[in-house]
Amino acid sequence: MATSRNGVRHVVLVGMMGTGKTTVGQLLAGRLGWPLVDSDERIEAATGRTVREIWATDGETAFRELEQAALLDALADPRPSVVAAAGGVVLRAANREALVSAEAAFVVWLVADPAELAARVGEGGHRPLLDDDPEAVLRRLSAEREELYREVADVVLDTDDRSAEDIADHVVEIVARAAVEGSA
Ligand code: S3P
Repeated sequence: MATSRNGVRHVVLVGMMGTGKTTVGQLLAGRLGWPLVDSDERIEAATGRTVREIWATDGETAFRELEQAALLDALADPRPSVVAAAGGVVLRAANREALVSAEAAFVVWLVADPAELAARVGEGGHRPLLDDDPEAVLRRLSAEREELYREVADVVLDTDDRSAEDIADHVVEIVARAAVEGSA
């Protein structure tokens, strides 16, 4: 079994849709030799339905319940992992509390300009919130959620004009440093 790095057991990537949580998460998981837990994927695997189907049939609140369960499960797992948390995970106070209080979790907030996010994600797709005017929605949600992401983040990384490889390398360095400081 993979072992934690001096106290860091889960590296959790948070941030808006389109910041590259899944892509960076995959690279990071490869570099650390840990599995990637992708929150939306977990929900889809557990329910046998897509995020869009859950959203359309059961509504956003039901989806947020599943999102919370996926996060808490991931954080409670004693095995190390990289967690790509869904963008809305910071909306619930209980989730923010879990992210802040889970001692072994290191939270990385990925940020990007809303125009850049819109260019990366395009329209709708598997994200029901982005069906209409994605850039305006991303701008509004970024502003609404900024303080929530800040509340849980151990570190913030700007992803504009940076490759996913570069960001993953940077996170590995930060985690190594965090581990040294943590073990001092
Ligand atoms: C959402 C983000 C999406 C997905 C859903 C809602 C959000 O995940 O969970 O469409 O509220 O920010 P990603 O951040 O992985 O795209």
